[in-house]
Amino acid sequence: MLSESPIGVYDSGVGGLSVLRAIRDALPHEPLLYVADAAHVPYGEKSQEFVERRACAIADYFVSRQARAMVVACNTATAAAISLLRQRHPGLLIIGVEPAIKPAAHLTHTGVVGVFATTGTLASPKFAALAQREAPEVRILLRPCPQWVRLVERGVLSGPEAQAAVRAPVAELRDAGADVLVLGCTHFPFLRDLIQEAAGPGVPLLETGAPVARWLRHQLQERGLLRGQGPGTLALQTTGEAAALSRLASGLLGQDLVAHAVPERWRGTPAA
Ligand code: DGL
Repeated sequence: MLSESPIGVYDSGVGGLSVLRAIRDALPHEPLLYVADAAHVPYGEKSQEFVERRACAIADYFVSRQARAMVVACNTATAAAISLLRQRHPGLLIIGVEPAIKPAAHLTHTGVVGVFATTGTLASPKFAALAQREAPEVRILLRPCPQWVRLVERGVLSGPEAQAAVRAPVAELRDAGADVLVLGCTHFPFLRDLIQEAAGPGVPLLETGAPVARWLRHQLQERGLLRGQGPGTLALQTTGEAAALSRLASGLLGQDLVAHAVPERWRGTPAA
């Protein structure tokens, strides 16, 4: 059973693939099941109740697939739903992602840190508590960037349109004194080159894929759930169009991948 049962990785769309690639590096022997809730992307402007409902549906799907763990590779869904998920599935290892505020607070010289994330993440009590706990002395500048999520979902990672969309928000936070920038949405590492270009070469851009992968590995090991041998595999599923996820994921991960549809009962209905 251990060798068959997957580790479920989930995001509203393709952003969580930035976490998945770090998980593949840290856990090369695991069967991974990635679910993009593309029928409902983006989550960033949706209500907490809606995001909770979707996260619960995907968790139920992972449980039906006998997943050993669930990685919520989405800052917005982690902020909105991780407490509820853990309440509903006390036996399941559930790992979330949070903007890298703590390392940012250590790195800043100006005492000003910029955070790019979704509106939902930045407005959440969980984010406010994180900032208060990890960086009480630091001035944190918040910048929601829903347009960046849309660009990545269209596979537009370079060129004039993406450049223009990235330049203004980055300049805004740099001009206000931020010397460290936090990529607080899992879609944004796919725009890293453009963000770095706009920010300047020495500016740290912090993301959480690698630390989350290490934490997952540690937690699996602690529970005796780590698969130490055999080839890793990756299955991709979506609540949206399978062909669209195949095309996007192949581009983002740089290999040919074929996605399939999540069974209908977990696909849900559109937000009101
Ligand atoms: N990738 C997600 C995050 O980390 C969500 C983006 C969205 O759906 O708006 O926040």
